[in-house]
Amino acid sequence: MKKIFDAMPLTSYLKEYAAQGTLRAHMPGHKGRSLPELSPPQDAYAWDITEISGADSLFEADGILLAAERRTAAVYGSPACCWSAGGSTLCIQAMLARMRMQNRTVIAARTVHRAFLNACILLGLEVHWVFPRSGGVISGEYAPEDFAQALHAVRGAGKSACVYVTSPDYLGSQHDIAELARLCHAQDAPLLVDNAHGAHLPFLPENRHPMALGADYCCDSAHKMLPALTGAAILHCRSEQEARELKCSMQMFGSTSPSYLIMQSLESCTAYLEQCGREAVSLCAERAGVLRRKLAGKYRFIGTEPLHLTIAADGHDLAAQLRQCGVECEYEDAGFLVLLLSPVMTEEEFAALFRALERCTPSAPVPAPELPPPMQQAYSMRTAALSGWETVKLSQAEGRICGPVQVPCPPAVPIAVSGERLTKPWLTLMEHYGLGEIAVMVQA
Ligand SMILES: Cc1ncc(COP(=O)(O)O)c(C=O)c1O
Repeated sequence: MKKIFDAMPLTSYLKEYAAQGTLRAHMPGHKGRSLPELSPPQDAYAWDITEISGADSLFEADGILLAAERRTAAVYGSPACCWSAGGSTLCIQAMLARMRMQNRTVIAARTVHRAFLNACILLGLEVHWVFPRSGGVISGEYAPEDFAQALHAVRGAGKSACVYVTSPDYLGSQHDIAELARLCHAQDAPLLVDNAHGAHLPFLPENRHPMALGADYCCDSAHKMLPALTGAAILHCRSEQEARELKCSMQMFGSTSPSYLIMQSLESCTAYLEQCGREAVSLCAERAGVLRRKLAGKYRFIGTEPLHLTIAADGHDLAAQLRQCGVECEYEDAGFLVLLLSPVMTEEEFAALFRALERCTPSAPVPAPELPPPMQQAYSMRTAALSGWETVKLSQAEGRICGPVQVPCPPAVPIAVSGERLTKPWLTLMEHYGLGEIAVMVQA
């Protein structure tokens, strides 16, 4: 058997990683364990089926899948939802398709995941960007009045609008969703929230879920912060009629074979949340708070979302030290390290994480340069991303037009977006994040 596995690099990697017993401070939120009594039997293949009689069909559900989706919506307290086996990526495509059909201009906070950008490119949507007042590429502080101003500008030009924000972002910073919803609704604009990192938010002592705070559409990657298989996500909306319309868009982008194993994990996750969601998520947040307080003299924790344990330090150095202690992190760069916590983590795992952090010595972060003035949008994002492109070194890219965005994942947050004319300060910023080259349009 060993010999066969040797010729299967992915399989041997997974086998070894599982055997190591690493403390997984990264996605998925199940942390490598199934939910007792709620998960498939040992041989998961037995539950991997297709749309046979009685099994319903996700994009036109009217049987067991519709009932299961309604149960998820009820647990979240949202009027309706659609399940996704294609992650939040598919949910983002669907909600933006709806905005395209309504002919709305998208006003977006610049801190977006590349899934947003690619959906805009595929749908031919142009974006009115709002940049953060402070902070950097991955996370920033936004002023609600900047969105109000953008709404006035778009509405003043006789167009209808919508606002799109990512909250929490990769470092765990959150927008003031209630305030944004108020601003949007005063201008007849829906608020769309990429809540990929916040599927657990309704279950904190104070419900911080975007739908509870007034958002109109919101996607949650259940797999990131909760016990669900990778790919399991939820798209919340304001009515069942809307959910049916969103599904029409989902099936334009998604596979015709959404995985029943992923969907079953979403049902398990829903049952888990029903049984003990509030208790488990609140306890996790409380343990995280204790850990932060006990280590406050040694580490500088940032971000407002309790289950994102984000440290301002040289993330590469700290990640290497933690690895030596058997802890694998979610994200590292020269300025930050992110550890993702989950309600399924045990008291022993929290104790082990505490001991590991106590043993490590953080070194000073290398601060990212401030965000330079915005670049000129020389071509539409769609034209630039779907034209011929070539890869050039950053040192040769000044003045060229950004082509398809190829940012590494995590965090997959674009620095320049397709169609922008590249300037030196933005190229310097890319160097800070370790990029060496960039795809640019050939004809420009
Ligand atoms: C902020 C954000 N939005 C959207 C996505 C896409 O989510 P998914 O992987 O569930 O498709 C990610 C993935 O990492 C993300 O970090």
